[in-house]
Formats: sequence, structure tokens, C-alpha cells
Amino acid sequence: MAKMMWDGRFQKATAADVAKMNSSLGFDQRMYAADIAGSIAHATMLAAVGVLTDTERDAIVGGLRGIQADIESGTLAFDNGAEDIHMFVEEELTARIGEPGKKLHTARSRNDQVATDLRLWMRGELATLTAMIGELTTTVIAVAEAHTSTVMPGYTHLQRAQPITFGHHLMAYAHMFVRDLARLADAGARANVSPLGAAALATTTYPIDRAMSAELLGFDAVMGNSIDAVADRDYVVEVAAALSLFMMHLSRLSEEVILWSSAEFAFVEIDDAYATGSSIMPQKKNPDVAELTRGKTSRVFGHLLGLLTMMKNLPLAYNKDLQEDKEAIFDVVDTVRLVVPAFTGMIATLDVREERMREAAAGGFTNATNLADYLVTKGVPFREAHAHSGALVHYCIEHGTVLEDLPLEVFQAESDVIEDDVYGFLDIDACVARRNIPGGPAPAAVVADIAAVRSELATLRISAGAQ
Ligand code: ARG
Repeated sequence: MAKMMWDGRFQKATAADVAKMNSSLGFDQRMYAADIAGSIAHATMLAAVGVLTDTERDAIVGGLRGIQADIESGTLAFDNGAEDIHMFVEEELTARIGEPGKKLHTARSRNDQVATDLRLWMRGELATLTAMIGELTTTVIAVAEAHTSTVMPGYTHLQRAQPITFGHHLMAYAHMFVRDLARLADAGARANVSPLGAAALATTTYPIDRAMSAELLGFDAVMGNSIDAVADRDYVVEVAAALSLFMMHLSRLSEEVILWSSAEFAFVEIDDAYATGSSIMPQKKNPDVAELTRGKTSRVFGHLLGLLTMMKNLPLAYNKDLQEDKEAIFDVVDTVRLVVPAFTGMIATLDVREERMREAAAGGFTNATNLADYLVTKGVPFREAHAHSGALVHYCIEHGTVLEDLPLEVFQAESDVIEDDVYGFLDIDACVARRNIPGGPAPAAVVADIAAVRSELATLRISAGAQ
């Protein structure tokens, strides 16, 4: 039977099954540094307002620093049977320094403590995630830059649609990732406020200085309502949602890499270091990084829904259900941290088969819209031009050829406004180059876009780093 710190009003010890169910130390131990930082700030503030003596504060701070050092050197294990990381640290502190350790929890509750710890822990993780996703985005942009003139088919309905460039296609993802980074920065800024001092739910009778502990911990402000401070976990949901959106984007790119690396597409070859083999089929080279990214996206989505569902029926303020937030957000963060470096390496080392992309773009009548556009320049209304171009595509399919190889007589039999200059319109590079519109696929437009996204990224990473 476990001995609990709160057992003064109890006549019986906690049943072992209950202690096991109640315990979160197994997973919340990873917040030890945040918990210790929060306690140091709290003790420092308590001494400043006269609730602790300077001597007591020094003993507490020294004890806490010793605990942190011992955890980090591996000499202190999380095995004192404590219920959670907060109890673990406090019990260990009291075992080490005696009386002053018992005063640390003055004017505080585990409810504001856990909310503080989680915000601090998340702030550190967001810095790492931002750097990783920034690196991925930089890599995607670098590959795009090498392929601003690499023609490939653009798709709708997974049917060849119009010619684009590989650089243009990849830059679509760079834009998505930049928005994902902006969402993370935004969530991080909103999360960086201090719940400390809310105590259980109704603050405290001691003359605490919440602004001081907030500042010591690098928070931008103090939370304005003590009930909100301990009851809400919207900051956890926001990060899970922002990372879900990011994973959704990454999963779409994964799906494309999987398609592109198939023999049917053969647009890219994944580097040996980023592919895997089969235990039975010697010829296989599998895109496991992309597949696992797609697969793990589902579990990130699952946690988001789990968090929302866990929250939706909770009366204010704290309920123990909230302990469930941690495994969810920890796994979301761990999953993204696992996936992104491998994915970045896969993209950086991708062998792009430019000739295959060009063949696919030239073979799929992706220039049929350009033919219609050509007829429009000759005064034909677009709807009629569309019909002429469609009829010529049909002719090509019947005769096993492509538009750019049709003799002029065939064009003229369909529409007598067509002249020799049509071939210049049908050339695949010309089709792309003519779409030199901001946001478009022409090499010049993609070059301009790359510069714009790079500067957006630089601003974002600076502001994320400054938090
Ligand atoms: N382990 C708890 C959690 O993660 C800490 C807060 C416990 N508070 C309480 N009143 N039981 O939520």
C-alpha cells in the first residue's frame, strides 16, 4: 500500500490497483526540468514576498538544483513510489533538506503546478519542432530551386492536367509548411502565459507576486482568471491541431513520393539510405519513410480527437481526466520529432528523374489547354476553342500520336484559323513559360516565389526563436 502525501483525512491506505491507475510518474517524469524550474521560481517569489526566509529559499533552490543534477547524471531514478512528478520532486526535496522542503508547497497546488509545467515543457518542444520543420522547409525549397525548369505533368483527379515544373509543385508544400510554422508560433505565443499562483482554483490568501514568478519563468503575462488557468488545456489542443495540420500536409507529400517512386511513375528514386528492402523479394526497394509518415499521421489525428473528447464534458475547474492530456501530447510531439528528420533526409537525397517527368508531361495531352488558348488568340471563343482542341485530342488518341506531331493539314481540317505558329504554342516548355503569372509554374515565377517564401521563413524562424 502506497503512503500518500495527502492522506491526513484518510483512515485506509490507497488500494494498490488505485495507486497504479492514479500514477502518472511513469510518463510525466519527462517534465522534471520544467517542474524544478517552476518550483525554483515559486520559492524565489515566496521569499521575495516574505512567506519564506532567504535561508529557506536557498535550501530549497540548492536542493532542487541537486535533484536536477542527479536526475541528469543518472544517479537519481524515478522510483520513490510518488504519484506524479510534482510529488516526486517534493518528496525527494524534503528527504534531502528536511523542514524547508515541506514549505515549498505553500500558496500552490498541483493544479497550477501541472499547468505551468506543461506550458514550460511545450515551449521547449515548440522551439525544437520549429527548428526541425524549418529545416524540412528549407530542404524542400532547395530541391525546388534545383528544379525550377524541370517540366512535369500537373494533376487533377490524378489525371495528367497541365504542364508545371517540379519546383512549382514542391513549392506548394513549402507554402503549407510556412503556414504550419506560423500556426505553431501563434499557438506558442498564446500558450506562453503563467497559470502559477492560481493554486487549486481560487488563488491563495498569501500576498504572492504572480507577475514575479511569471517573469522568472519567461512567461509573457499572468493568466487573468485562476479557474481558467487550471481548467483549460486549449494550448495543448492548439499544438495538437497545428501539428495535425502539418502531418496532414506531410502525409500528402508522402503519398506523392510513394506514387512517384513506383515503376509506373518512376519520377523519383529514393536514396538507398532512406529506403528499405523486402525479406522475400530481392528486387524490392520500399518507400517506408513515406509510408510510416502517412501511417503515423493517423495517430497524431487520433490524439487530437482524444484530447477534444477528453475535455468536452469537464465541469470547471480541475478534474483528474486532465491527466490524460500528457500521454496524448507527448506522443504527438514524439511522433513529429521522429518523422521529420528522416523525411527531410529522404527529400534532400531524392534522385529526381527529370527525363521521366518530361516524358509524362509530353505524353498526356497536357498542352491541350494551350491549344485552346491559341485558338482564342485567333479570335475563336474559348468554349468553341475547347471543343476543337478536344476533337484534335480524340484524333490523336485514334491515331496514336500527340498534338505537337500532327501535320498542319490535320489542324486546319479542324479549324482553318490554325497556322504554322501553333507548334510554338504546343511546345511543352513554352506551355510552362507562358504561365508566367505570380504563383504560376513558369521558371521565372517559381524563382520569384522561392525568394518570397525564403524571406517569410526567415521572419518566422526569427520570431519563433525570440519567444
Ligand atoms: N498528475 C496530475 C495531472 O497530471 C497533477 C495534478 C493533480 N492534481 C490533483 N488535484 N490531483 O493532472
